Amino acid sequence: MAIKKVSSLPAASVLHETRVFHPSPEFSRRAHISSFSQYRKMYEESIKSPEKFWDRQARAELTWFKPWKKVLDWKVPNAKWFVGGQLNVSYNCLDVHLSTDRANKAALIWEGEPCGPGKPPEQRVFTYRQLHREVCLFANVLKKLGLKKGDRVLIYLPMIPEAAIAMLACTRLGLVHSVVFGGFSAQSVADRVFDSQAKIIITADGGFRRGSVVQLKKNVDEGLTLRSASGECLTSSIHRVIVVRRAGCDVAFNPQIDVWWHDEMETASPRCEAVKLDSEHPLFILYTSGSTGKPKGILHTTGGYLLTAKMTSKYVFDLRDSDVYWCTADVGWVTGHSYVVYGPLANGATSLMYEGAPNFPNFDRFWSIVERHNVSVLYTAPTAIRAFMKWGVQWPGKHDLSSLRLLGSVGEPINPEAWMWYHEVIGGKRCPIVDTWWQTETGGIMITPLPGATPTKPGTATLPFFGVLPEVVDETGEKVPKETSGKLIIRKPWPGMLRGIWGDPKRFMETYWSEVKGSYFTGDGCRQDKEGNFWIVGRIDDVLNVAGHRIGTAEVEGALVSNKNVAEAAVVGRPDELKGQALVAFVTLKTGIKPTPQLKEELRNHVGKEIGPVAKPDDIRFADMLPKTRSGKIMRRLLKQVASGGEIKGDTTTLEDLSVLASLTAAED
Ligand code: PRX
Repeated sequence: MAIKKVSSLPAASVLHETRVFHPSPEFSRRAHISSFSQYRKMYEESIKSPEKFWDRQARAELTWFKPWKKVLDWKVPNAKWFVGGQLNVSYNCLDVHLSTDRANKAALIWEGEPCGPGKPPEQRVFTYRQLHREVCLFANVLKKLGLKKGDRVLIYLPMIPEAAIAMLACTRLGLVHSVVFGGFSAQSVADRVFDSQAKIIITADGGFRRGSVVQLKKNVDEGLTLRSASGECLTSSIHRVIVVRRAGCDVAFNPQIDVWWHDEMETASPRCEAVKLDSEHPLFILYTSGSTGKPKGILHTTGGYLLTAKMTSKYVFDLRDSDVYWCTADVGWVTGHSYVVYGPLANGATSLMYEGAPNFPNFDRFWSIVERHNVSVLYTAPTAIRAFMKWGVQWPGKHDLSSLRLLGSVGEPINPEAWMWYHEVIGGKRCPIVDTWWQTETGGIMITPLPGATPTKPGTATLPFFGVLPEVVDETGEKVPKETSGKLIIRKPWPGMLRGIWGDPKRFMETYWSEVKGSYFTGDGCRQDKEGNFWIVGRIDDVLNVAGHRIGTAEVEGALVSNKNVAEAAVVGRPDELKGQALVAFVTLKTGIKPTPQLKEELRNHVGKEIGPVAKPDDIRFADMLPKTRSGKIMRRLLKQVASGGEIKGDTTTLEDLSVLASLTAAED
């Protein structure tokens, strides 16, 4: 993999770098980890005696049907945690609470987007007992449809309770779910079915987004007709599509394949025993963009993942029984898996789930939800915070936000200005902020403050969570001195780590374990300050982070060149005030094709259709040629500079044709 030189931190980060925020004594007094020395002591034990540490945590945090024989079996790159132990995720998220005072506590509070102008938002609340019932009913539906332990199930739903119910029902039976974000296309659904060989798709007629309906079932129907380049049907493994009635829109219904969720639930039994599963039984596959080719199916397994999700939720969000906890992520992303569903429910917390966008029907949608539901812990993304800043303080100002006690950030580096705004305007200067760094691959939070213990500085995710040993290294894999940028790697295995790329052990080894031998390579650039805080600089591979979503440039390029008019394409990022990064595509056209504004729109829509609206380039620029090295590699560094409107700097002598730079800067726009 081509690793680019890690750039220095953006200038803005220097602005508040020296400002340190210490946990308030009132917060610390009640927190799970109440002092820095307590954190240090636990952290040191977790690194020096990991097996002893994790053995104790796994016993204390989870309910096991059978104890393990060995805590860790590790041979790079394959880890097995709690070997021989048996448990069940849905049992740990639901059943364990039924014999406690939490049985009738709200497990899930759901608020839908208003389904029409002037209509009130829909709300549904499930207590632990009710959620358990729904999950058992649906698990029986899946059983009746013939699914067996280990079978894959594709979930393509809006943010509705049925998404969480479907996930939990899969885990109850040992089925492996693969959730596909509702913003992905028919093609993406088909590709993921093909890769995972899923037997069933769970979808909805449609979902609401900013007042309009996203036609999910229609996408599935289209996906079922798609073929590979060699003519192979991509979805021949599918034998049923379960459809939730959500948007009330007309859908084509094929009784050979389609069944309605509500019909099946009506006749199902509410009793369903949780299957005893091996600790390493596959739990879910989640596809994520990489620096080359098609998305990778990141595989997580049962015991280690759940322990990570539970412990990080408990300590990072300092969860208490009285909390109303709201993670705004969609369940189509890993944040939704670990911090809307599994982490909070394993802790017996109340998790709020919201279907819509932050600005519909109005710019105060989030704050109205916080006020009406008395949200106490809010976990969202910097891109949303920057949008709120732009919309103005009058919107949060209309609401009483005094229920909030803790704020979280995830998905991309949070710029210090956004951190300060979050702290002052939303947190009323009293709420600690946890800036949490992690990835789809890590399963759970890896670098983060603990709110009652860790001093924070705006812009840094601070220090590692228990058992995590990150290091910043140079090109040779040597640790670099403090205050020096390098690659972020993780030296030791941790329970929530990915167990592989579905069906591709070679790519797993090459992508993650070969950059620095024996260590996990994150793909991120980073530096540590004098106190040891980790400052994430951003991706150093060809993956972009657009509005907190991970997008592989190779994937977008692949989509562009699949258009009949396109000869070549190169996609790079440029800084964007709101989204962090924006996608800029440089495109050369086939002979005789004219660059027109209509073609630009056609290409954007083409990418939307191939991958999904999230991957549509913000900017398409036509060029006669792309700048290349003598060996034929596209010089992305130059394109980045052009995309950002910057001057072209550095050595250009390796360019195959220097005149292309001139043609690029003057390219039709
Ligand atoms: O570049 C880092 C960035 O998001 C990437 C992981 O993306 P994904 O797998 O989609 O998971 C997102 C949610 C966990 C990382 O490689 N990233 C995530 N959190 C932060 C971050 N960058 C800086 N600070 C963060 N807190």
